[in-house]
Amino acid sequence: MTGTGDLRRDAFDPAIDVGQKRGNRNAKWSKYAAETVPAWVAEHDFRPPPAVTDAMQATIDRGDFGYHDLEDDVGEAFARWSAERYGWSPDPDLVHTCVDVLQGVTAAVTALAEPGAGVILTPPIYHIFLQICPTARRPQLEWLMRYDHDLGWTLDPDDLEALVRREPGARVLLWCHPHNPTGWVAGTPVLERIVELAHAYDFYVVSDEIHSDLVYRDSSSPFVPMLSIPGAAERVVAVTSPAKAFSISGLRCAVMAYADRDLRRRVRQAHPPLLLGHAARTGIDATVAAWTHGSAWVDELVGYLTERRDQLRARLASEAPAVRLHRPDSTFLAWLDVSACILGENPAARLLEHAGVAMSEGADFGTNGHGHVRLNFGTSEPVLDEVLDRLAPWLQE
Ligand SMILES: Cc1ncc(COP(=O)(O)O)c(C=O)c1O
Repeated sequence: MTGTGDLRRDAFDPAIDVGQKRGNRNAKWSKYAAETVPAWVAEHDFRPPPAVTDAMQATIDRGDFGYHDLEDDVGEAFARWSAERYGWSPDPDLVHTCVDVLQGVTAAVTALAEPGAGVILTPPIYHIFLQICPTARRPQLEWLMRYDHDLGWTLDPDDLEALVRREPGARVLLWCHPHNPTGWVAGTPVLERIVELAHAYDFYVVSDEIHSDLVYRDSSSPFVPMLSIPGAAERVVAVTSPAKAFSISGLRCAVMAYADRDLRRRVRQAHPPLLLGHAARTGIDATVAAWTHGSAWVDELVGYLTERRDQLRARLASEAPAVRLHRPDSTFLAWLDVSACILGENPAARLLEHAGVAMSEGADFGTNGHGHVRLNFGTSEPVLDEVLDRLAPWLQE
């Protein structure tokens, strides 16, 4: 490991090289025509800290890409990271790797909801989650988010209780914590109530915590790991990775974490052991380095993203007041209500065509997604200005 974690050397660098990204076939920058500015897929544009690239470089320099024995290092790095940042110390023995978060989520959901058992989603929701039930042949149930002018998008546990009373076959809550696309961060009282309901109504929680490191300092709640809630052990599987915070999604390494040996065994035994595959050597190098040396860098990143979030809000308020955006407490994603603008049924498609900005279509996020677009503001100040220069004339009543 050559990464030293030196704070000055590992300082966050907001410079981005757009030409290099397009030339490197980065999906975000190369999916659409060269004149399009991308603000779609959930990936920020910044380089990870040198500690991460140095760790990978050391493996590359040795040319050693054979089978490895590094699984335990990931569990230990995750335990240290969680303790340092969230005051929660998971048992590294109860953490195992998988290739990516969606693989881990799908494995846990299908292990804990038998065929025919209901899976609860929280729309509008990360659109890829909507593929899980139809392809795994599990009925999909909805605990709908509510919008309030002052509170923004939230979930009311009373609605969950009403749902599980009505649907006794519901066996899993697929929980997005923090929530994509709204950026909502559930606080401890909501998490405690969910765990209480999980025991009372016999369901499990699969908690996708991939955005956990991207919670803003002015968030109404800090991030609290679902597994740290009393009583969660027998009911909760958490799946996460440093991919969103460090923008290393292409490296393929994630973790599944438990606080109960029997639950871990149950999920592992539900699938043929080889189906979860093995995380990549370089993915593990990057993950361990990020979780060992990346804390100060993430703090700087979150500070920079806070400025971009506020840049976005200020410009929308003055140049496109018809757009409704409740301040996201986390993620570099903004869930924009553009229903007051004259953009038709598919606003993101219209804005791609006319403004040359690629965003995600709200309707793809399921119930209550219509009339919205998801905008990724995880980029540099000048690129975000360019996005807003292009969008503002089209975001009018
Ligand atoms: C909530 C959430 N989970 C999972 C993923 C994808 O993670 P991975 O590429 O590790 O499967 C994303 C990516 O946008 C996401 O927002």
